[in-house]
Amino acid sequence: MARSAILPVSRSVAAAPKKLSIDEARGAWIAAFRKVRTETEARAAHLSGEDQIVQSMEDASPTKWHRAHVTWFFEQFLLVPNVSSYKVFDERFPFLFNSYYVAAGPRHARPQRGLITRPNGADVAGYRAHVDAAVERLIANVPVEKAEAVFAILEIGLHHEQQHQELLLTDILHAFAQNPTDPVYDAAWRAPRPALGLRGFVDVPSGIHAIGHEGKDFCFDNETPFHDELIPEVRIARHLVSNAEWLEFIAAGGYSTPSLWLSDGWAAVHREGWQAPGYWRLKDGHWHTMTLGGLKAVDPAAPVTHISYYEAEAFARFAGKHLPSEAEWEVAARAGLIADAFGVAWQWTRSAYLSYPGYRAAEGALGEYNGKFMVSQMVLRGSSLATPEGHARVSYRNFFYPPARWQFSGLRLAEFI
Ligand SMILES: [Fe+2]
Repeated sequence: MARSAILPVSRSVAAAPKKLSIDEARGAWIAAFRKVRTETEARAAHLSGEDQIVQSMEDASPTKWHRAHVTWFFEQFLLVPNVSSYKVFDERFPFLFNSYYVAAGPRHARPQRGLITRPNGADVAGYRAHVDAAVERLIANVPVEKAEAVFAILEIGLHHEQQHQELLLTDILHAFAQNPTDPVYDAAWRAPRPALGLRGFVDVPSGIHAIGHEGKDFCFDNETPFHDELIPEVRIARHLVSNAEWLEFIAAGGYSTPSLWLSDGWAAVHREGWQAPGYWRLKDGHWHTMTLGGLKAVDPAAPVTHISYYEAEAFARFAGKHLPSEAEWEVAARAGLIADAFGVAWQWTRSAYLSYPGYRAAEGALGEYNGKFMVSQMVLRGSSLATPEGHARVSYRNFFYPPARWQFSGLRLAEFI
């Protein structure tokens, strides 16, 4: 839950620099595997068995499902292809815990994940233990000539599990926000404080700049190829938009002024009855918001979160600005120009989630990981307070549909010069 630093994976998750001996590499990968698997369980440990079953909407999944699905990922893509003697823990589980990999076989309907009371939590714990032991045996025993390929799939599995660690929190927060008793996920939870003193707008270096992932450290395929982008003359806000600024937007009638909204956004405002960010509600005449620490008074100084792309875009229009493109954001972040790029709130950009020039999805089922979602979604950059340590990168591309509000999503503004 600490703020994420921009660390190459070799020094963060994987801790496996390139020049290790094979025995050192085996040890480093086992340590990395245990660290990630332990973090998932640490996040789930705040929740009861009942908490872990609930699915509050189609987009959100039960905690128990997350714990099992990331385990299936290792079983399906690492163990089955690489360990001839491996026995699938339960032949029924691949159907239940495959998410969207069509090439990996049929799967349970996503909206019905919350109906699965059995296998129960203990069964899922047993599944995790079974796969943990098998993965560790594979790491320890994989022949040297196969090690590089095996460790590459292992690394994808670790980053995949980290993504679900974030979803585990955003999904349970959505469930708790539906509960009139305002459950507390973690009484010790504190919102990250924004950087102080860094205000105003700063020039982004204009001209041709390369963005995307470069080098041999881990990245997802959607961050490649490293390629040139033309950056216009533009300034970007050093700070994230705050709740205080959002309160001004509300007070000025932002949610009832159609000229501020995209057509689809205005339809969403009416369809969903939006009058404030997600989880905000008036209590005793004051805005409160549901957090991982329970229901709290809205902190004016904190960055706004749980806003959709539509709201971010409307706010930018209200402010006489626009959202940065993902290339503008990345060039500014690489230059160290912006505060709170990471570890507070994902930042909507005005960039549609599309492939970079020359992008090729991986072969086989893992090629479904990112590429098939490159339509109708918008890119968010940075990372959030829920992103596990070591998972963030300056080239990282998150993506959600424009109405989505259950992530820790906020914004920073930009303006053309
Ligand atoms: Fe997944």
